[in-house]
Amino acid sequence: MHRLRVDKLLVSRSDPLRGDLEVEGSKNAALPLLAAVLLTAEEMQLSNLPMLQDTKTMLAILAGMGVEYSQRGNCLSLEAPKTVEIFPCTRLARAMRASFLLAGPLLARFGEFCIGLPGGCQIGERSIDQHIEGLSALGARIETVDSQIQAVAPAGGLTAARIHLSVPTVTGTENLMMAASLARGESVITNAACDPEVVTLAQCLIRMGAKIRGHGTRTIRIEGVRSLGGTCYSIPPDRIEAGSYLAAVAATGGRVRLTGIRPFVLQSTLRQLMQAGGCIETTDDTVKLDMKGQRPQPFSLTTGYYPAFPTDLQAPFMVLATVAKGVSRIEETVFENRFHQVQAFRQMGADIELQSDNRAAVVTGVDKLVGIQAVASDLRAAFSLIVAALRAEGETEIRGLEHLDRGYWSPELKLAALGAPIERVAG
Ligand code: EPU
Repeated sequence: MHRLRVDKLLVSRSDPLRGDLEVEGSKNAALPLLAAVLLTAEEMQLSNLPMLQDTKTMLAILAGMGVEYSQRGNCLSLEAPKTVEIFPCTRLARAMRASFLLAGPLLARFGEFCIGLPGGCQIGERSIDQHIEGLSALGARIETVDSQIQAVAPAGGLTAARIHLSVPTVTGTENLMMAASLARGESVITNAACDPEVVTLAQCLIRMGAKIRGHGTRTIRIEGVRSLGGTCYSIPPDRIEAGSYLAAVAATGGRVRLTGIRPFVLQSTLRQLMQAGGCIETTDDTVKLDMKGQRPQPFSLTTGYYPAFPTDLQAPFMVLATVAKGVSRIEETVFENRFHQVQAFRQMGADIELQSDNRAAVVTGVDKLVGIQAVASDLRAAFSLIVAALRAEGETEIRGLEHLDRGYWSPELKLAALGAPIERVAG
């Protein structure tokens, strides 16, 4: 039986956060790699897997489909049998948009799928039209019946296609790359996402025997192969988790050394922190941020497709603007509805004006925020509430932690280790 999580976080104003922090494996790299397990009959070993709620949901879906796995710490061995249940559990699939990543592998190896329309954070329209159009171009016949998307591949399997994406969708690119890996002929995806998580998936697929070129650019070429084998792969560090903690430290004027991170994938984030007054030093696998006890400087920030500033860090970075010395402007260009945090920030005393049909925010920094009782609305907004609470007078109570736990592993422990007055309590 599932225990209903009704925990809440109690967070008080913090002195500057200080210390070292190790970054977890990337959630958004782990989820497509778990889906890729369906592409092979051989054993896959994934290490450095972040043991988050989203990972557990994906594992539960796979297990329900017949995938066998064993776990040692954060290393997993997984094996998909010759036949699987092509109808993933609707309740679990709805809990997480990334469940639709199962579509490409199911279609490519088993010739069909039936998946409930995906759910996930309510941060915009989040259409899956590009996934559907791409899979159709590869030969699939797809229809939606009673909120279920059903698809079948032609008798001889999928055939290669030229696919132009109208938006460089991350999971769309991943889904199509996986499907095309087992299609007949060479597929070309143009206007593809070039995010590090797409590159990670391509590298893992190549180790499984796929023939992929151009990953990390806007044009990806995939020459289909007959079958793919198993491999061992280590999940790279989570750039969004890293950026979230950098925002928390910056908001408190603190200093931190992140370890186990590739600074290269954080370039736009580090530039933004420098604009906010942070001193940054990097090595091949560490990032140091020092705010020297100062309040952030105002900045202008525009989210965009990689390598632009990630939309997933927009909410935590808005906290820096709310307490900066001056006026900042933040523009959200990826999702239509990703300013959910604003209402709570205003209650805390922030001065935020939304413009351009809620796609831009003008934030005038204030001297003081105050603690409130808040309910998290989505994953990244949840973390941003913690960051704001670290700057607020008095205590902030944060509920809705089911959102937070989807993507952050015990943030209260990690922040407490940096000196934050934060605890998770029941009820
Ligand atoms: N879009 C379409 N049609 C499609 C697909 C996307 O119009 O078929 C639009 C979306 O509506 C959105 C934009 O394209 O406006 C970008 O969406 P994308 O498909 O790239 O997002 P996603 O693949 O669903 C992944 C991450 C998100 C992250 C976005 C953007 C995973 C599992 N999820 O989502 O992560 O915000 O890319 O970088 O990789 C998170 O971790 O908090 C999170 C939401």
